[in-house]
Amino acid sequence: MDELDERVELIPLGEAKALAASEFAKQLLETAVDYKELRMMYACAIKEVQTQFEVLETEFKVRYQRNPISSIQTRLKSSSSIIEKMIRKGIPFSMENLEAQIHDLAGIRVICSYVDDIYALADALTSQDDITLVEQKDYIRHPKPNGYRSLHLIVSVPVFFSRQKRQIKVEVQIRTIAMDFWASLEHQMKYKREIPDQQHIVEQLKN
Ligand code: GTP
Ligand code: MG
Repeated sequence: MDELDERVELIPLGEAKALAASEFAKQLLETAVDYKELRMMYACAIKEVQTQFEVLETEFKVRYQRNPISSIQTRLKSSSSIIEKMIRKGIPFSMENLEAQIHDLAGIRVICSYVDDIYALADALTSQDDITLVEQKDYIRHPKPNGYRSLHLIVSVPVFFSRQKRQIKVEVQIRTIAMDFWASLEHQMKYKREIPDQQHIVEQLKN
């Protein structure tokens, strides 16, 4: 048994996790230049997809005199969330694994007024010839057991930099205002454990 194995065997699970986390963080720092560059690329991919939705919004307004999009939110996954997710899924940390296996580094959420608009926007986006649909999960037609509803797309978009073109994955969540309200409430409740009679609220939310 080598030295490392011995250490891991002797320390309790909590400490082992902390050790693993700090080891991940260390490796993250060691590859910091690449990591920063990767984040920059994903931030640019978000801009691209956001612009595509804004173009669709502008077109809908002129063509149909109404706005299909109520709001757009974007986020780049935080480093701690990335580390937490990779540990949870048992994915060794590397730029390659990060790119290949974490599909929600770049996230965009589009909130609509009507369910029809969700599918109209998703269709319009994915039929653009530079967008590739990698994966689709329809939690509207097939809600999660807890009642969560939303249309999820993983798309791949080309982003043009000064010396290269890169295909980058972006997670798109499209939902109505009502679905978003529900999801925010449910998300909050996951973290606010002091709420009394949570089971009752969970049941109510589901209904
Ligand atoms: P991760 O959940 O990110 O590990 O990936 P997955 O492969 O399970 O993807 P999925 O499409 O199921 O969920 C991706 C994202 O959708 C999550 O990160 C949340 O933002 C959102 N989401 C999924 N399920 C729920 C839910 O039950 N409640 C809430 N509030 N949000 C959810
Ligand atoms: Mg999930």
